[in-house]
Amino acid sequence: MKLHVQLFLPLLTAASRDHTPKHCTSLNSTCWPSPSAWSAFNASLSGKLLAPHPAASPCHLPAYNSELCSSAKQNWTSSDWRTAQPGAFSALVWELGPEGQCFINSTKEDPCQQGYVAEYMVRASSVSDIQQAVKWAAKWGLLLTVKNTGHDHLGRSSGEGSFGIWTHWLKGRVWHDSFTVKGGRENKGVPAVTLMAGEQWLDVYRDADIRGRIVVGGSARTVGAAGGWMTGGGHSPFSHFYGLGVDNVLEVEIVDANGEVKILNEYTDPEHFWAIRGGAGNAWGVIISVTYKTHPNPTHIQAIFAQYTTNDSTANREVVRRVLEALPAITEKGYIGYGTLADGPVGLILSQANATNSTRDEVLQILDQVGNVTGVETQAGTMEFPTWLDYCDLFLHDPNIATNIIDSSRLLTEDVLVNKTKELLDLMEAYPDMPGGFNFIGRVNNNERDKTSVHNSWKQSVGVFSMGIDWKDDAPLEEKRRKKLRGVEVSKRLETIVGKGSGTYVNEANPYEPNWKETFWGEKYDRLERIKRRVDPRGMFVCNRCVGGDIEYTP
Ligand SMILES: Cc1cc2nc3c(=O)[nH]c(=O)nc-3n(C[C@H](O)[C@H](O)[C@H](O)COP(=O)(O)OP(=O)(O)OC[C@H]3O[C@@H](n4cnc5c(N)ncnc54)[C@H](O)[C@@H]3O)c2cc1C
Ligand SMILES: *[C@@H]1O[C@H](CO)[C@@H](O)[C@H](O)[C@H]1NC(C)=O
Ligand SMILES: *[C@@H]1O[C@H](CO)[C@@H](O)[C@H](O)[C@H]1NC(C)=O
Ligand SMILES: *[C@@H]1O[C@H](CO)[C@@H](O)[C@H](O)[C@H]1NC(C)=O
Ligand SMILES: *[C@@H]1O[C@H](CO)[C@@H](O)[C@H](O)[C@H]1NC(C)=O
Ligand SMILES: *[C@@H]1O[C@H](CO)[C@@H](O)[C@H](O)[C@H]1NC(C)=O
Ligand SMILES: *[C@@H]1O[C@H](CO)[C@@H](O)[C@H](O)[C@H]1NC(C)=O
Ligand SMILES: *[C@@H]1O[C@H](CO)[C@@H](O)[C@H](O)[C@H]1NC(C)=O
Ligand SMILES: *[C@@H]1O[C@H](CO)[C@@H](O)[C@H](O)[C@H]1NC(C)=O
Ligand SMILES: *[C@@H]1O[C@H](CO)[C@@H](O)[C@H](O)[C@H]1NC(C)=O
Repeated sequence: MKLHVQLFLPLLTAASRDHTPKHCTSLNSTCWPSPSAWSAFNASLSGKLLAPHPAASPCHLPAYNSELCSSAKQNWTSSDWRTAQPGAFSALVWELGPEGQCFINSTKEDPCQQGYVAEYMVRASSVSDIQQAVKWAAKWGLLLTVKNTGHDHLGRSSGEGSFGIWTHWLKGRVWHDSFTVKGGRENKGVPAVTLMAGEQWLDVYRDADIRGRIVVGGSARTVGAAGGWMTGGGHSPFSHFYGLGVDNVLEVEIVDANGEVKILNEYTDPEHFWAIRGGAGNAWGVIISVTYKTHPNPTHIQAIFAQYTTNDSTANREVVRRVLEALPAITEKGYIGYGTLADGPVGLILSQANATNSTRDEVLQILDQVGNVTGVETQAGTMEFPTWLDYCDLFLHDPNIATNIIDSSRLLTEDVLVNKTKELLDLMEAYPDMPGGFNFIGRVNNNERDKTSVHNSWKQSVGVFSMGIDWKDDAPLEEKRRKKLRGVEVSKRLETIVGKGSGTYVNEANPYEPNWKETFWGEKYDRLERIKRRVDPRGMFVCNRCVGGDIEYTP
């Protein structure tokens, strides 16, 4: 995996000629600021400059510390702990880099390399910290990374030899009964909440519950509420009613490429506002806060579970086929959820706010029919939760933290689920080491779709289908590379099955996606790139497979 310089298309404007394709990293001592320059910068930030290391560094010499090492071991897969470490990332591959070593279980004499962890990082606790950091990166031409939780699956919050901004501690929530956007022409406000960049979903849900409200957010405890989840689109258990996260954004406050504070909404800069809602990653500026519409608490949340167990592979294939074909009918009834189709029993967890008993019973009937196959044991059940928070307390556990899972995914339409079922089943059978599943099942309220930059295939989508591959930290390099290449193969085969025009959810996509511009944004890409050249002509804000950037990791 190397940084690749990606040349702009022939259509060069004056602005894009100024774009520096290469950024300065700590690997180049000629351009990198001197220790005394860093130290002066630290002083100007009142000491908020960190020199982070990978999360297992206290388990290795020279930084060995038995207490911190045992704490790292105990908390290794905890998302609360991991998101609070400056040098930790959920997917270890984006912490250690493709060949890096700083393993949690190796001996203390084994190396701890810096990997993709930023060389220096500003622990931002004010807007001016972010402004100073952006100006510093601009002055020296540094590769700038922005880390919030470090959950990104595509490696967009780390970078070898980079200078980082860490937004995790920029906390704050302001609840509005009647919010009007800056420069707006409506004089009637709407209920809303302004979330600072470091806020995480479960904290927001707890606070919202006290106020009898919900915010459209992820099915996750620690995912950032005002970072990459939002810029990528952000799906939610409430998307059936209220759309994607981006559809609920009223205003975003950012630090732009000049280090200036800028308020984005549909009046101040409609194009930039359009781009940041779906344009993904950190390509559009450093977010200070996001203001979302809020919605009333539902009367209850109805959840449905189904699990299908069998020892017979033919029967299992039949169940998976039936699940795929049943999804359109289930989502039509307003249910949203998650599904596992391999690697153990086939299972679905579905939910709906304010669901009636009769739609619940209709969905249960569909699920019973799915399991009506000889040799298959069906377990199905329902649960009613008085509040969304009760549901969260039971289900939001942030699995798969500190693994190396790499997904290959596509948004699937009813047409594909019904007419390409055999192809999907064959693909899953051909790659048993890449268990298939749904990161999101559901139809999304599309009222605002054309006002945001997410892929148009969200309009017809019934869910995000993905197949993931994983490896042990200390697996041989040959195995790591082979598995990454398998992920790319599956992406290509998925493209053949669903067609070139079908997109995916950028936050749950393959980090090495071949035709990423088309797959992530389709026909919206060109407009995004034009906006990018205007708002960030020097290419300050770059990340892997981000709009107009020059970082394209290879397996
Ligand atoms: C356990 C888990 C559960 C998940 N559940 C869901 C789900 O239910 N729904 C869903 O849609 N997705 C879900 N995701 C995917 C999630 O949306 C992505 O991982 C997303 O990238 C996380 O954003 P973050 O800001 O928390 O992470 P980070 O890795 O810190 O950041 C991701 C990207 O956003 C940029 N960024 C972050 N903060 C800022 C900022 N202040 N300004 C500018 N750029 C910024 C980073 O530079 C990077 O490019 C889940 C992921 C995990 C690990
Ligand atoms: C290192 O930085 C110098 C000064 O900016 C530049 O001229 C040189 O090309 C860089 N070297 C590498 C290997 O990037
Ligand atoms: C920045 O300054 C603080 C306070 O003086 C210090 O604790 C910290 O180690 C410094 N950071 C770096 C990277 O040297
Ligand atoms: C991490 O582990 C230690 C025990 O070593 C425990 O006391 C602490 O609460 C844990 N921290 C987090 C954030 O989970
Ligand atoms: C480290 O070792 C522990 C105990 O043997 C084991 O449970 C854990 O899975 C190992 N972790 C990794 C990342 O290999
Ligand atoms: C659920 O019902 C409550 C009470 O009637 C209402 O306020 C809320 O808007 C409803 N939510 C949805 C998603 O229908
Ligand atoms: C699968 O096989 C095991 C062991 O042979 C048996 O106990 C179990 O009942 C079987 N399950 C089904 C669904 O047939
Ligand atoms: C819905 O079903 C639950 C249990 O399945 C029951 O307790 C409740 O009374 C039912 N509600 C209505 C309106 O029938
Ligand atoms: C199961 O399928 C058979 C036909 O294959 C049908 O006769 C039977 O009614 C079905 N049972 C249920 C509960 O749907
Ligand atoms: C499946 O394909 C047929 C033939 O092309 C088409 O008529 C039908 O509408 C498709 N089904 C769905 C659900 O799109």
